[in-house]
Amino acid sequence: MKNVLNDDFQRIAESNLSFDEFRNRSFLITGATGLIGSLLVRTLLYCNHVHRLNLKVYAVVRSIDKARSIFGETDGDLEYVVCDLAKDAITCSGHCDYFIHAAAVTTSKLMVSDPVGTIRTAIDGTEKLLKLAVAQKAKAFVYISSMEIYGQPKEEGRTSEKDLGYIDISTVRSCYPEGKRMCECLCNAYAAQYGLNVKSARLAQTFGAGILPTENRVFAQFARSAMNGEDIVLHTTGESEGNYVYTADAVRAILTLLVKGESGEAYNIANEESHTTIRNMAELVASEIAGNKIKVVIDIPEDSASLGYAPPVKMWLDSSKMRALGWKPTVGMVEAYKRMICWMQN
Ligand SMILES: NC(=O)c1ccc[n+]([C@@H]2O[C@H](COP(=O)([O-])OP(=O)(O)OC[C@H]3O[C@@H](n4cnc5c(N)ncnc54)[C@H](O)[C@@H]3O)[C@@H](O)[C@H]2O)c1
Repeated sequence: MKNVLNDDFQRIAESNLSFDEFRNRSFLITGATGLIGSLLVRTLLYCNHVHRLNLKVYAVVRSIDKARSIFGETDGDLEYVVCDLAKDAITCSGHCDYFIHAAAVTTSKLMVSDPVGTIRTAIDGTEKLLKLAVAQKAKAFVYISSMEIYGQPKEEGRTSEKDLGYIDISTVRSCYPEGKRMCECLCNAYAAQYGLNVKSARLAQTFGAGILPTENRVFAQFARSAMNGEDIVLHTTGESEGNYVYTADAVRAILTLLVKGESGEAYNIANEESHTTIRNMAELVASEIAGNKIKVVIDIPEDSASLGYAPPVKMWLDSSKMRALGWKPTVGMVEAYKRMICWMQN
């Protein structure tokens, strides 16, 4: 397929999303130069064009050059808001109806080298956004959270939104999941105290077409190994059970939550069928994607703690609450890799 990303956008535009709710509305999206944020911006601009929605997107970015390299020159429907959420106040030139807060420190190495910055970006950044949303009388706000907030949940059965597990806060890397927990709590506090319509999207590991050239998370590393015919090297034993969702499915879920999610609630966003250990996912890529021309090698570095890997978990995310809103995932694991690699090759 030549333009797999356009195909994703088209599928979203033809989906059961309530596009009429977005007509003549404005969106503020943080983390807009990141994986999820950039796809949200591009999806909205695509749907604006196809459905003639007359919508406006304010993309919050730290680097305008990076933003231009992704979106090109802005048109009337896209405006950049330059802001480092850890340091700067945020102002927006216009009114915003919908907020999607996707900015966060997501690099494992940074979580362990700058845990204070990771927490400050999470808490201070989220509070700035929540305040702005209250001041602007926003229609809805989605906070992008993570399955990592579960920590170590119970091992039997599926993990649903009420099953919070253990997080060892003496471990530096916990700055990320514990920060996410506090941000969700802050969102719920704003819902209770200021009546803000805010909900949290607990994303499984999200990958697929649209990843950025700088992406270096494990899914991108596996895909590059398959593309280059090189063995996949695991820096852990790979026993952690991963929960995954395809990029366009995640984008559709987040837009569904804006309209249909209950205020003060959290929703797991995962393709329950895309559930496997890291090791098995690596084996799957080696066999199904690379046709067994590469193999999986385990090489655990001595200083592995400094790499900031999440602790191993056994967790199978239950996405029934999200599915009850009319959302369902459409792309499985092998197809997700094929689409991502197709995008990377083009
Ligand atoms: N992709 C996944 O697999 C996944 C899984 C679970 C949760 N999430 C969550 O989804 C959200 C988006 O993640 P992503 O995959 O797009 O990550 P990403 O690293 O691609 O994007 C993160 C974005 O946040 C921005 N950012 C970081 N610090 C900032 C600051 N101080 N001020 C302003 N912007 C700042 C970055 O510039 C970047 O644009 C994050 O909250 C992440 O925790 C992602």
